[in-house]
Amino acid sequence: MNLKTDDYLNKLDDILKRSLEQLVISQEDIFKIGEEARKEYNRTKQMLGDLKRELAETIDVVDKMTKLEKKARLNLVQVSKNFKKYDEEDIKESYDKASRMQLELTLKIEEEKQLRAKRDEMERALRSINETLRKADNLTIRLSTVIDYLESDMNILSEQLKGLQEKQVVGMRIIRAQEEERRRIARDIHDGPAQMLANIIIMTEICDKKAQQNDFGGVKQELGDLKEAVRMVLKEMRKTIYDLRPMALDDLGLIPAIKKYVSRFNIESEKQIRFVVIGEEVLPRYLDTTLFRIIQEGIANVEKHSQAKNVNIKLETGMEYVNLIIEDDGQGFHLQDITLDKENSLGLGLSGIKERARLMDGEAKIESKPGHGTRIFVRIPISDRGRA
Ligand SMILES: Nc1ncnc2c1ncn2[C@@H]1O[C@H](COP(=O)(O)OP(=O)(O)OP(=O)(O)O)[C@@H](O)[C@H]1O
Ligand SMILES: [Mg+2]
Repeated sequence: MNLKTDDYLNKLDDILKRSLEQLVISQEDIFKIGEEARKEYNRTKQMLGDLKRELAETIDVVDKMTKLEKKARLNLVQVSKNFKKYDEEDIKESYDKASRMQLELTLKIEEEKQLRAKRDEMERALRSINETLRKADNLTIRLSTVIDYLESDMNILSEQLKGLQEKQVVGMRIIRAQEEERRRIARDIHDGPAQMLANIIIMTEICDKKAQQNDFGGVKQELGDLKEAVRMVLKEMRKTIYDLRPMALDDLGLIPAIKKYVSRFNIESEKQIRFVVIGEEVLPRYLDTTLFRIIQEGIANVEKHSQAKNVNIKLETGMEYVNLIIEDDGQGFHLQDITLDKENSLGLGLSGIKERARLMDGEAKIESKPGHGTRIFVRIPISDRGRA
């Protein structure tokens, strides 16, 4: 996996998570602001109620005082007109009363004016608090929608990122497996046919020399060897071509191709392979290469490392899965002695088996113990696309 891409995806994930955290915090803050505004609203409303009552009482008092003041004023006019009837003391008293009442009335009216102003101001404040409250409620709703969106989108995004990462990993594996395959083929051709062809050139040169020396007996001998060498090259070439892609696999299908492979092996080797199929003999074609390569590697390992006498290959085909077991009664090995990751493993065969199974959404397990043989279990699901 490309580390930079990995870092980038992790950072993106991190940024999204942190933004979401901040949004949740903001939502909580806004909720608190809303709660405070609600309390303030209730308090102000209560105060406004009290104020309105006080104002109503004051208006009432002003009304009464207005009447009394008017009465006092009329009384003064009356007293002043009939100054013969009233003495100076009465007039003064009347005057004092009228002017006292006027003063008191003026003060009360002023008080009423102030109360009205206070009421108006409080009503304005109440409207503004109400507006804040409405905005806070709206914001809380909007934020929670955004958070819901982000949370669900983030989950989808995370899933997509994970899928992308997996796809990249699979892609890298395929490329690595292809490169490895090419390396092997190059090595096989270099060690086998190419080496032999170099020998053939030397043999023809010897032939040439012997012909110049008129040693026709030697030439005949050399030609016989040459013929044998060319036959060997041909055999090696055919083997390489067969290993590359057995034509039987395309022409006959998987199971006949395995049967052919096994019978050729049984003729050439002292070991004996028993191949059994349980279930239907027809499998989806897309599994051909995977299963054939796994069996091929299993057999190659038996041949190279096992010293086994018997090998059993069992292919079990069902509706949903195909199971493959390759077991030998050879010397076995310590699993901990080999690591199955590509970078550090001794060979690539066993990790290749695991890889191929994994690429088909299946899995491969290897069991082995010194003195107890080796078993490879492979299980691959059969998808609908394969049946189509
Ligand atoms: N059937 C077996 N019997 C005994 N030992 C085995 C068997 N299969 C694998 N091993 C052991 O496990 C090791 C790893 O096998 P693997 O197929 O991964 O690599 P390899 O065969 O050594 O090399 P490559 O497959 O790349 O040519 C082998 O080197 C061998 O020691
Ligand atoms: Mg191997």
